[in-house]
Amino acid sequence: MQLSSKSIKGKTAWQCPANIALVKYWGKEAMQKPMNPSLSFTLTDCYTTMGVNYYYDAQQTFHLDFRFNNKSNPAFSERLTRYFKIIAPYMPFLNNTSLKINASNSFPHSAGIASSASSFGALALNLCSIEEAVNGAIYDPGEFFRKASFLARLGSGSAARSVYGGYVLWGATSIDQHSSDEVAVPLSTEISQVFHNLRDSILIVSSAPKPMSSSAGHKLMTDHPYRQARVGQANQNIDHIIKAMQNGKMNDFIEIAEEEALSLHALIQSSSSPVFMVKPNTIAIINHIWNVRKTTGLPVGFTLDAGPNVHVIYPVTIMDKVKAFIEKDLRQYCENGAIIHDKAGGGPVKNE
Ligand code: DP6
Repeated sequence: MQLSSKSIKGKTAWQCPANIALVKYWGKEAMQKPMNPSLSFTLTDCYTTMGVNYYYDAQQTFHLDFRFNNKSNPAFSERLTRYFKIIAPYMPFLNNTSLKINASNSFPHSAGIASSASSFGALALNLCSIEEAVNGAIYDPGEFFRKASFLARLGSGSAARSVYGGYVLWGATSIDQHSSDEVAVPLSTEISQVFHNLRDSILIVSSAPKPMSSSAGHKLMTDHPYRQARVGQANQNIDHIIKAMQNGKMNDFIEIAEEEALSLHALIQSSSSPVFMVKPNTIAIINHIWNVRKTTGLPVGFTLDAGPNVHVIYPVTIMDKVKAFIEKDLRQYCENGAIIHDKAGGGPVKNE
């Protein structure tokens, strides 16, 4: 498309939620392509809000002013500068645009929740809105979100999934011909009612910086002795977890989600640079969850990110019972008793 010769300025703002993977993205190829397909659901109350003031003029060069909570943030600004170089070929107008970005998160930094998915999701959505304004064109919604997912992926792999609500698939898989390594797609298959209102209570075991970043962790998969087996496992788990969701099999769903979480940590521990990302309290919580499931039959399970915090997953129908169990048995293991009760949600919202 021909770039405009007129200068154009304006403001956009998006709110984009974090997501939690049930089948994990772990290991990547060049250009942030995943080693295996993954499946997540998008959260509701853990999100990034990002406003962008833009000014496009054919006579000027790219300029970035990034602020987090109205304060400059050199570390993330540097990451963004590298990011904008990568995406410029897909958004040529950026070479002549200045951006003033301000972002904030609904969840405290100390919650230890990775914010790269919600941040790059919000940024990619804003960039697509700016592109529409600068090009004077409105994309159809499918195209808009596909491009947002593509751009978000180039910032942080898991961000590709955050631009959609509900359950989201990312990575080439025989299960869904629309899902690809380039972009995530909302899960299109009919799923049983019991999976419609999933809850996620996030138990904050530690807010200390993690001993290893996700990016470093992905690299460890390149020469991992179990690489091939992991690709097979993830593909099989995608297949099985979607079948469980179609057939209303909550216990199968929980078993697969837990296998994925534990495999992620086992892969880290069996890599060439092993570290413990979990803490003793993480293990104590998991043992309680297994015990309550065994003794009461309640369909409650867990998943983990590459960190110590535990996401307790359960259907809304047993919310009161699970919350009582969390208060009685699990809150004692949380740092300063910190818990965020979140739930699956409808995805990003355009604020401006
Ligand atoms: C364990 O998306 O944070 O949460 O692509 O390097 O930014 P980069 O990594 P990131 O990795 C997320 C890994 C995970 C699993 C998942 O979300 O699927």
